[in-house]
Amino acid sequence: MILVNENYQRLQGSYLFSEIGKRIAAHKGEGVIKLGIGDVTRPLPPAVIDAMHSAVDDMSSAQGLHGYGPEQGYAWLREAIADNDYANMSIGADEIFVSDGAKCDTGNIGELFSGTCKVAVQDPVYPVYVDTNVMAGRSGEYDSDAKAYTDITYLPCTAENNFKPALPSTPVDLIYLCYPNNPTGTVLTKDELKTWVNYAKKNGAIILFDAAYEAFIREDDIPRSIYEIDGADEVAIEFRSFSKTAGFTGTRCAYTVVPKALYGVDSSGAKQSIRDMWNRRHCTKFNGVPYITQKGALACYSEQGKEQIKETIDYYLNNAKIITSGLKKIGIECFGGVNSPYVWLKTPDGMGSWEFFDKLLNEANVAGTPGAGFGSSGEGYFRLTAFNTEENTIKAVERLSALTL
Ligand code: MLT
Repeated sequence: MILVNENYQRLQGSYLFSEIGKRIAAHKGEGVIKLGIGDVTRPLPPAVIDAMHSAVDDMSSAQGLHGYGPEQGYAWLREAIADNDYANMSIGADEIFVSDGAKCDTGNIGELFSGTCKVAVQDPVYPVYVDTNVMAGRSGEYDSDAKAYTDITYLPCTAENNFKPALPSTPVDLIYLCYPNNPTGTVLTKDELKTWVNYAKKNGAIILFDAAYEAFIREDDIPRSIYEIDGADEVAIEFRSFSKTAGFTGTRCAYTVVPKALYGVDSSGAKQSIRDMWNRRHCTKFNGVPYITQKGALACYSEQGKEQIKETIDYYLNNAKIITSGLKKIGIECFGGVNSPYVWLKTPDGMGSWEFFDKLLNEANVAGTPGAGFGSSGEGYFRLTAFNTEENTIKAVERLSALTL
C-alpha cells in the first residue's frame, strides 16, 4: 500500500462547518434557525440574473458558445474589477485572477511558498488558513493542552486588544489577515493596516489579505483593500469574493490579486515573481470560471447591479443591528456587526463556546458557531451571522432573549 500524506493526521477533528452541519442534522428539534455558517439567503441581484439568462442564450448558438475561457478570467471581467474595485490603486487587470472561491484561493496559495515558511494567523481565525498549512506540513505538532500547533504563530485577538493583533514578536514569513474580520466582525483603520504593511516590508514577509467581506464596510477610514496603503503591492496578496457581496455562495466566483511587484526568492537567492508563479499554477490546475457565471459577476459592476448589491448588504447589516441590539438588551456583550455580517458575542457567565452552542440549539432551536472552533482565543465567544432573513433573525433574537442564561 502507498504512503499517504501524514500531515493530514495532524488535522483536528473535521472541518468546523461540516461538524456544525452534522450537529444540526442530528438535532431532533424542528425549525432550527441557522445563524451559523455565513451562507446567504437573499436572491441574486436582478441585474445578475438578467446577465446570466442572456449568457445562457449566448451558449445556445454555435456563434455564441463559449468553451474553455482564459484560465485567469475573461478580460472584460478583470478590467471591470480593476476599474471599479481598484480605481485609484496601482492594480491592473493582469494582476487579477478570477476563480471559483476565496476559500479555494486562500487554501491553494500556500503552494507557492516553501514548506519551511513560518506562518502567522490571527486567533480566532477562519480555519482554512490553519488547516491548509497543516496539510502542507508547516504546522508542527498539535499541542492539545495549548490547543494550538507548535510551529504556527498565533496572534491573539481578544476584547483586551479590541481584536486587533499585535505584530509578531518572532520572525514570520506569511501573515494571514482578514478584514473585515471573520469571525470577530471587527475592522482595522488605514493607519493600523499601514503598520502591518510596514512590518512586512521591514521583515521580508508577505501578507495574505482576505477581504471577502469588504462590501460590508460602511464607516470612513476603513480600507476596503490593502492596496490603499502605499507600497502594499510589494508585500501583499488580496482575496476577494462575490459570495457575500452579491450572493454567489452557490454560484461560485471570486478573485485574487497578485501584484507584479511581489517577489520571493529561490534557494540560490534569485528573485521569483509570485504573480508569474500563481499564473502558472492557475493555468495548470484550473480551467476558468464558467462564462455564464463571469457574465453574472460582470453585472455586479453595472449601475443597477451596484444599487441592488447595496440594498442587499443594507438588508444584512440591518439584521446585524437587530442581533446586536437584541443582545445588548439582555446584557450580552458583543462586537462587530457594523462593517461586517458577523456578530461576535461574549458567552454569558463564562460559559464554554460549545456549551453555549448546545444550549442555544437544544433550548432555542438556533444554531450559531462556537468561538472555540476558530481557535483557542475564541473560547468563551460565539459567532452569529446576519445572513438569514429579517424575519428569522428577529425570531432568533426573541428565542435567545427568552432563554434562562
Ligand atoms: C463562514 O461562515 O465563516 C464562511 O461562510 C465560510 C466560508 O466562506 O467558507
